[in-house]
Amino acid sequence: MLERIKSTVSFIQDKTNSYPEVGIILGTGLGGLVKDIKIEHSLDYDSIPEFPVSTVDGHHGRLIFGELGGKKIVAMQGRFHFYEGYPMEMVTFPVRVMKYLGIKTLLVSNASGGVNPDYEIGDLMIINDHINLIPNPLIGKHTHEFGVRFPDMSEPYDHGLIKKAEELAKKQNIKVQVGCYVATTGPTFETPKEYQYFRIIGGDTVGMSTVPEVVVARQMGIPCFAISIITDLGVPGKIVEVTHEEVQKVASKAETKMTMIMKKLISQL
Ligand code: HPA
Repeated sequence: MLERIKSTVSFIQDKTNSYPEVGIILGTGLGGLVKDIKIEHSLDYDSIPEFPVSTVDGHHGRLIFGELGGKKIVAMQGRFHFYEGYPMEMVTFPVRVMKYLGIKTLLVSNASGGVNPDYEIGDLMIINDHINLIPNPLIGKHTHEFGVRFPDMSEPYDHGLIKKAEELAKKQNIKVQVGCYVATTGPTFETPKEYQYFRIIGGDTVGMSTVPEVVVARQMGIPCFAISIITDLGVPGKIVEVTHEEVQKVASKAETKMTMIMKKLISQL
């Protein structure tokens, strides 16, 4: 794995000569952030050796290098999910590549279903903890160079970044929730009882991404920040049919708020 990562990294460095300090996974809701990046290079995933190729509608597939908020960044436009059939080490491969490209912080977005009865559709939630119900991406042969065999998870999401983001949101008059994200494999959305279960075990929202990338980043010592758009509610009495299209529609409405928080956060890193 290490050799594959290093060969991908040297390919990228040859092509871009870029040394980004911030990595961004442009999940649902952050698509519009691309417009604000002063793009210097962009590489389609299918042109990068060893890289997986994304298969979901609404998720593009390229790695973008440039400047945003005065920082050198690398952004993944399109991410990989376990439900697409990739092994977990491939779902998280790009995060390892970003680490070896030099990132010092990882920023992530996603969409999720709210199970906290106080949440509303269209709310943003800063993730302050997670419950991982997807296979752990660190299962398998241990590579010392990535970090320890048994990584600490007492602060999966960086407290300093959370505080900064909360302050920024307040200043901009943007309402944000702060809570726990339950990660499931998907690709089915939840049954009413599954939503109820995720609430009982301590979740505020449920979604199908982010946690694999964060686990791998934390093993490698990268501070993480993640934010979610609540696109539907798994709350008794409020459960209606959920579709991927509806998730995308709600997310695009909340995009401006999320983009603003991320942009300001990056400029303050
Ligand atoms: N469940 C799982 N993933 C999701 C949901 C949901 O309700 N909404 C958006 N992503």
